[in-house]
Amino acid sequence: MTLKPVKLTNFKRPLIIAHRGYRAKYPENTLASFSAALDIGVKMIELDVMLTRDRKKVVIHDATLECTTDGHGQVNSYTLQELKELDAGSWFHPRFAGERLPALDEVLDLVSDHALLNIEIKSNAYEAHQPPDAIEKQVVELVRRKNVLTSVLISSFEWKIVENVALMEDAPAIALISKYPAEGDNVKLCIRLKAFSWHPNCSELKYDQVKIMREEGIKVFPYNVDSPGEYQRMIQMDVDGIITSDPPLLSDLAQA
Ligand code: G3P
Ligand code: CA
Repeated sequence: MTLKPVKLTNFKRPLIIAHRGYRAKYPENTLASFSAALDIGVKMIELDVMLTRDRKKVVIHDATLECTTDGHGQVNSYTLQELKELDAGSWFHPRFAGERLPALDEVLDLVSDHALLNIEIKSNAYEAHQPPDAIEKQVVELVRRKNVLTSVLISSFEWKIVENVALMEDAPAIALISKYPAEGDNVKLCIRLKAFSWHPNCSELKYDQVKIMREEGIKVFPYNVDSPGEYQRMIQMDVDGIITSDPPLLSDLAQA
């Protein structure tokens, strides 16, 4: 069956974005977690990516392996092949034993015909000297090669990564993530970079910040929206979407 690719331009508000997949019920950032999110009809999936020792793109949140695998030490001290031998599911529940850390290519192949993808490039992967295979260059090259430019959103807490993507020809849409929304020059930065969206931590978000961004045509997708109370607070602020670890909980509210 050939499905029509989803595009960033025509989503229904509020867009429910699955944080590291369906993280409340599946081991985060695994194919099991992403498949489960697709199965429940999520329209956008968020993931985290960083580089391995052999400079391949691996999907994992932490810079170290202890929390979500049976490995030890820094992710970037192992090759992709070595990381593929780790168990990335048992820590969550024994029934996920044998789940592997995905390469970014695998997730694109799984998701991109069915849902939008928010690729968060982790700040620890930023390289100021910008080698030819810097992570942001590799991610954009992959997105182009897979022909999914219109269904991918690249985000980072590291504004220099976001800027580097923004400066590329034919770049995918970009987003800035802000742990402390009121700090710094988030608005000016998003406008200057022509960001598609801004992803603030929901617990710090204020209505005025949402209003300014929306007036500038920048969408607001707060993250860590994991309870009905936070969801209602975000909806009252008229955000465009929410990033949540429990998509079904909030999708039910969105349809109520
Ligand atoms: O992209 C928003 C959110 O995922 C950022 O926080 O730490 O879960 O990657 P974190
Ligand atoms: Ca993330």
